[in-house]
Amino acid sequence: MRVPVIAGNWKLFKTIAESVALVHELAPLVASSHGVEIVVAPVFTALSKVSDAIEGSNIRLAAQDCFWEEEGAFTGEVAPKLLKDAGCSHVIIGHSERRQFFAETDITVNRKAKAAISTGLRAIVCVGESLAERESGLTFSVIETQIQGSLAGLTVEDFTNTVVAYEPVWAIGTGKTASDAQAQEVHLFIRKLIAKLFGQSVADAVRILYGGSVKPDNVKGLMGQPDIDGALVGGASLKADSFAAIVTFNS
Ligand code: 13P
Repeated sequence: MRVPVIAGNWKLFKTIAESVALVHELAPLVASSHGVEIVVAPVFTALSKVSDAIEGSNIRLAAQDCFWEEEGAFTGEVAPKLLKDAGCSHVIIGHSERRQFFAETDITVNRKAKAAISTGLRAIVCVGESLAERESGLTFSVIETQIQGSLAGLTVEDFTNTVVAYEPVWAIGTGKTASDAQAQEVHLFIRKLIAKLFGQSVADAVRILYGGSVKPDNVKGLMGQPDIDGALVGGASLKADSFAAIVTFNS
């Protein structure tokens, strides 16, 4: 059985104090949730303080990006081992906003994923098509290219620390969720592709999260789909009560 992952991507929101306050409010609301991997991804500057704040809880910490080198003359970058040092167990890689605004490509996503995984972080690797691509009938070919490129060269062992997130760009921050069937169709496609590329046992075990306007009132339908193993949540993760309602979708 695949343990579901519910991850909150806080994007560029919240100060250190606000981030700490949010996890203090969240922790008791999700304390009795078992069998779900709960992750929050604050901004870099809040990681260390949030790490202290979640100690002893069932909440895990992610960064929203990382670099692929361990150290060196790379102004402005943060290495995977420094994320671990700050208390992270997870890192989001290749989010569509990074692909769109910061020139992230499948090649850089792949380098970052490999570096993160070899450091012992769990990489949440994001893929997803734009509205224009979907409307041109390119969804599956775009996803295939992104999966092949982003996960190139990963070993079976690497996949124990790899989570895939399918986030259709047109559903992010728009309030337009993919329907349960639309999401399931792409998730199944990704799982079959991973089976072809890396073997059936990898495909059976890998968690594939859905992201894009996930809210307390649509999470149950999405999570009821056979190939949806969790959610990557933006807006609804910024408030403790709505994120907790998503985490506890099953109760
Ligand atoms: P929203 O939930 O705000 O649509 O954001 C989704 C997302 O991009 C999570 O990474």
